[in-house]
Amino acid sequence: NKKAFIFDLDGVIVDTAKYHFLAWQKIAQSLNINFTHEDNELLKGVSRVRSLDIILGLGNVQASQEDKDKWLIQKNEDYLSYLVDMNESEILPGVLKILKLLKDKNQGIALGSASKNARPILEKTGILSYFDVIVDGNDVTNAKPDPEVFLKAAQLLNIDAKNSIVFEDSVAGIQAANIGGMVSVGIGEETILHEAQYIFKDFTEISSEFIEKLIG
Ligand code: BG6
Ligand code: MG
Repeated sequence: NKKAFIFDLDGVIVDTAKYHFLAWQKIAQSLNINFTHEDNELLKGVSRVRSLDIILGLGNVQASQEDKDKWLIQKNEDYLSYLVDMNESEILPGVLKILKLLKDKNQGIALGSASKNARPILEKTGILSYFDVIVDGNDVTNAKPDPEVFLKAAQLLNIDAKNSIVFEDSVAGIQAANIGGMVSVGIGEETILHEAQYIFKDFTEISSEFIEKLIG
């Protein structure tokens, strides 16, 4: 059986949340907005534009489109500066083993991410070649929990949604997979990701047997 295994990027393959946080924090500080690690949770899986709106909302700040555009550019330039030295050591534990297993088993492998920086991150970490299909923030109009990003990935792999498995660390991403009629696998805390069909703390907890069972 050939199934589609669709991976979210940030928080699933690499721990980029810490860099997004640092970059957003600079913007927040410059606007005198208190932005905490807890607030950062709200931004997981959320697009860049929407993230800025959430942060401005935290501080009750109204801004012109011109200012917003400027801050979005600043945020991304700063974020990219943290990625300059990124390499394979930043791939989260257990991910590579699962990617290799899926390749060995000739499964469809896709990326389904809200990020517009997905390709350079896959290149820098040396895993671009594992992915048959990449659907990212440049390719979709509807953000998670809309299933568009995952449905597009499955479609490009020519595999039905019901034969697709999504790995996600965000609530919106799990909801997107569920709405799309796919198998949802949460990577992270059970308390947060309880809507997922399966939940694991990280990829080291996912066994070959589990993957083989999903392949069927
Ligand atoms: C998601 C992240 O994957 O991508 C969000 O979880 C991020 O934190 C979003 O804002 C957009 O990413 P980027 O790289 O296009 O700013
Ligand atoms: Mg994520």
